[in-house]
Amino acid sequence: MNPISIVATFPSICLSFLILIVYFINKLGEKKKGKKRYHPIADSTTKQLINFHRIHDHMADLAAIYKTYRLESPFRREIYTSDPANIEYILKTNFDNYGKGDYHHDILKDFYGDGMFTVDGEKWKEQRKVSSPEFSKRVIREVNSLIFTNNALKLANILDQSANSKDTVDIQDLLLKSSLDSVFQVAFGIELDSVCGPCQEGANKFIKALDDASEMSLLRYIDLFWKIKKAINIGSEAKLKKSLEIIDEYMYKLISSKAEQLSQDLDSSQKGENILSRFWHYSSTNPKYLRDILINFMGGGKDTTGTTLSWFILMLCRYPVVQEKLAEEIKEATNMKGSTTISDFAANLKEEAIDKMPYLHAVLSETIRLYPAIPVAGPRICIGKEFAYRSMKITAAVLMRFFVFKLSDESEPVNYKTMLQLHIDRGLHVRAFHRINHY
Ligand code: HEM
Repeated sequence: MNPISIVATFPSICLSFLILIVYFINKLGEKKKGKKRYHPIADSTTKQLINFHRIHDHMADLAAIYKTYRLESPFRREIYTSDPANIEYILKTNFDNYGKGDYHHDILKDFYGDGMFTVDGEKWKEQRKVSSPEFSKRVIREVNSLIFTNNALKLANILDQSANSKDTVDIQDLLLKSSLDSVFQVAFGIELDSVCGPCQEGANKFIKALDDASEMSLLRYIDLFWKIKKAINIGSEAKLKKSLEIIDEYMYKLISSKAEQLSQDLDSSQKGENILSRFWHYSSTNPKYLRDILINFMGGGKDTTGTTLSWFILMLCRYPVVQEKLAEEIKEATNMKGSTTISDFAANLKEEAIDKMPYLHAVLSETIRLYPAIPVAGPRICIGKEFAYRSMKITAAVLMRFFVFKLSDESEPVNYKTMLQLHIDRGLHVRAFHRINHY
């Protein structure tokens, strides 16, 4: 079997609908083409470009007609499948045979380096093994939950003001900032507080550079001339180079300040616990490897939970019965039925209470099924799953307990933006009402 690589639209085999894009790196067996049966050619680069603004619907439409189909263009040959038997074979039965491959590694290596998103085989296995304990339930609950709660509280305080002043808010913007604050704090131990106002200039530049690098790296998938542009440093490749310089400068500064901190004889509470300090022990002699690991976590965690919570709020606005049922479950599970302040509620939101919210878990999972935060993703299970669910549940519990959300304009169409992650195009404008005053 030749090496092939895959991009799948959903995080795991458990999700009900999957589209896989299989890139054939060489064409062994083509001579026998006449004797083999092939799946129909249903798509082309031109059709994809025409449908770029609705690319995920375009692919879902084709998958509904042909369970498996091909895209044939002079420089691209792909197979898309939503056939459960194929998906099980690729994601489970013969998983080792379906890595990311050189094609993705080549495109993404400048940004993601040799981090988890781009590597295969032993390198990938080693990184998963090293990272797994840091993303375990225990670490997420014992170390990170407090960070999630504090950031949810800051967000709730902003919504409290908007409910008082009857202002409309772009809840997606706030949720993206709040999730960025959590990821930054968990990864680097830095309190950005972007949800409360502009953050430090260095951090701002770094965040902007991450967004640009992600966009420019994505462009490489459709830009046939990116290698030439890179060689002569023009256009999107010049922009990518500039962004990577900013990213590397920020990351290496962080890494060397960690080195300095650890060289001083501080106790662990002064040193602080975060992903950077935890991974330090594995690769302190190789700052480039440490940079790659951390950038992959930023790439995976930066916007995913904020985006999912935005679609979640949209669904709740469209289905008020579900919104009410959720609020009821949260009240019951936390057993704080009487009048309580937002900060008291957040301070007393216990792990056991969150575990008693199966309906919240189901609504979040259904939101991810309908609106996968990483719609063109790969064959692997997300390592940040526990992190994502825990932070989303804490944020949702705090918000749903105190506010009722309504769309500011019910008639305004809501669409996604075609990019690496499934953002709501032009934000999500809502009004938050105090739950207590709403009835
Ligand atoms: C709703 C939230 C999230 C969704 C829907 C999601 C989705 C996904 C998907 C589909 C993959 C597979 C990609 C592939 O095979 O190439 C993935 C991988 C990954 N995710 Fe997430 N993710 C979420 C949250 C997070 C968070 C919060 C973090 C980190 C803090 C994270 C870190 C990662 C990493 C490092 C990988 C690479 C794993 C590997 O290649 O083995 N994700 N995620």
